[in-house]
Amino acid sequence: MIDLDELRSCTRCSLSATRQRVVIGSGPQHPRLMVVGEAPGRYEDEGGEPFIGRSGRLLFALLREEVGVERDECFVTNVVKCRPPGNRTPARGEILACHDWFDAQVKDYAPAVVLALGNVAARALFDFTEGVGLTHGRIVTVAKKGADAVSGAVTRGLATYHPAAALRGGSSVVDVMRGDLRILKRLLEDA
Ligand code: URA
Repeated sequence: MIDLDELRSCTRCSLSATRQRVVIGSGPQHPRLMVVGEAPGRYEDEGGEPFIGRSGRLLFALLREEVGVERDECFVTNVVKCRPPGNRTPARGEILACHDWFDAQVKDYAPAVVLALGNVAARALFDFTEGVGLTHGRIVTVAKKGADAVSGAVTRGLATYHPAAALRGGSSVVDVMRGDLRILKRLLEDA
């Protein structure tokens, strides 16, 4: 199990010098769905919870409308646990420094289905080398880590655009996300 006190005081990369809070994640211990973003933004850094700003409002409205899932039913987290200054994309070294924390969370929570939001999450979860423009909606099956691994269970998932891209890109990006979330709904129904 992840040592939360150790994570809260982590100094494995320089983001520890500028963060206000380590944003670990929120949601139930054994969720059917794990939602994974990139890194906390300003509101998350202040509030200590992932996706509590505009991106999160859009994300959870779409999840409710297309999948019928509420925020408190999923475990929500980010690949990188501390805010990159100015909300820049986390650097490779920062992603690597956080990798063991993120990997341990996927093992501990062992969700049936994972949703990756944007390139950083899609690469971390599915090893995609192409961007989400090409890989969104593609169903990926990964060996489930942790306790369930002995029974050969799998986690399935897919990537879609990050909701911040939808806020910038408008209705065409939202429409693509809606289509991907309908595929996610079928994955959850089959899980
Ligand atoms: N963007 C993310 O990727 N994660 C958050 O928690 C907030 C914004």
